[in-house]
Amino acid sequence: MKKHPVLITLFGATGDLASRKLYPALFKLYQKGFLAEDFAVIGTARRPWTDEYFHSVVESSVSSLATSSNEAKQFASHFYYLSHNVNDTNHYIKLKELSKELDNRYQLQGNRIFYLAVAPQFFGVIAKHLKDQDVLSKVGYNHLIIEKPFGHDYQSAEELNTALRTAFKEEQIYRIDHYLGKPMIQQLALMRKDNTALENILTGEYIKNIQITLAEEVSVEERGGYYETSGALRDMLQNHILQVLALITMDTPLDGNIRKAKINVLNQLPNYTNEEITEYFVRGQYGEDSAHTKPAYRANEHVANESTVETFVAGKISLQSNRWKNTPIYVRTGKSMAHKHTSIVIQFKELPGSEIPRSINFMIAPDERVQLDSSEATSTLYRAILNKYFNQKELQTAPEAYEKLILDCMNHESNSFSAWEEVAASWKFVDLIRDAWNKETPSFPNYQSGTMGPIASDKLLEKDGHQWII
Ligand code: BG6
Repeated sequence: MKKHPVLITLFGATGDLASRKLYPALFKLYQKGFLAEDFAVIGTARRPWTDEYFHSVVESSVSSLATSSNEAKQFASHFYYLSHNVNDTNHYIKLKELSKELDNRYQLQGNRIFYLAVAPQFFGVIAKHLKDQDVLSKVGYNHLIIEKPFGHDYQSAEELNTALRTAFKEEQIYRIDHYLGKPMIQQLALMRKDNTALENILTGEYIKNIQITLAEEVSVEERGGYYETSGALRDMLQNHILQVLALITMDTPLDGNIRKAKINVLNQLPNYTNEEITEYFVRGQYGEDSAHTKPAYRANEHVANESTVETFVAGKISLQSNRWKNTPIYVRTGKSMAHKHTSIVIQFKELPGSEIPRSINFMIAPDERVQLDSSEATSTLYRAILNKYFNQKELQTAPEAYEKLILDCMNHESNSFSAWEEVAASWKFVDLIRDAWNKETPSFPNYQSGTMGPIASDKLLEKDGHQWII
């Protein structure tokens, strides 16, 4: 087992993401031996916590995974807390000193990960101080992990990127899209790389349409304030949906460079006019459910009474490449829908006498599995490939997204992270939609909580003679 001596400095250590996802992910890496005795974590945030209190938070966040309270204690003893104001130079000097001390104590070989789980307006100032106050190490590696949202449009994303690049090179920046760490998505990329038989039928020549659905049963809940500034388009489509779309439609890279292949696809996103956006995109906002038990989006705390923010978006995307020119890719995501359902469905054309299946459904949630719709006799080859890569038991026991992504970052493996050019191309496309939408006031709410979105979303496919499979 390769050990990974490393110092992880986590900005936003008192936040929800840290205790819900990051501490458990680090704990799993610890249990599996990827992190051994030579690792340390500095947690920073504004709150004046002590190391003891920090340990108790870490211990309780991993308690359900630990085999004993001693194991959790031992793990938490590697954590140090530094109360921190991101604008205060002195705090970075303290951070530098503590980093040096821990580097010596735990023999960390100068390997450093800086994890920014804070609001994006702080990314630039933190990166600048890390460089100016010499917190980056001179030996070993310095990697930066950042959480979404990466900007709120192309321009702000570019400004953010420029700010980060004053301290870190592109290859040191690991932009998280947790969808890329999901076992099903990881396997999908692997399967595409290894199997020309499947690769050959993943083209518009054989495919009728592709449907990507990221439906959520949960409502916006207590995140109204954030959601008012993002909406479903920025929250889900700009990142997760376009990343999944790129992975499914990219040309499999012979040199293994998945990011480059995804950049090529994202650069082929259509340059829709305002009229085309109106024709190909549907936005929605949930009202209360039929039994009046779930409140409407507008009734949420921190949400404007007349809010026009979309909690649902569906669209038809036609890539400009020869491979996909005539194949509609339908995408859909929303909150407060009928059920949690995340899937990629590929519907094939019916070609008489061919061995090609009728459809393949890569299901990510509620559980991870692949469904092949085909006649028993014909698709033996495809069934064998899918069984090999998508063994349900293995999918269920595979590392959770954050565990996989942090390990990849320690291994300098950047394929599971979004490159700047991917982010840039995605924002340019999303900005087109946003700009067109800004020209009209939608009539909201237009779907009931607990349904699959507005009727216009079904009509979008019906116009083309298709329908949502799920
Ligand atoms: C996040 C969004 O990126 O993804 C959330 O900000 C959303 O609004 C979440 O709920 C969905 O992730 P998953 O893994 O539950 O599908």
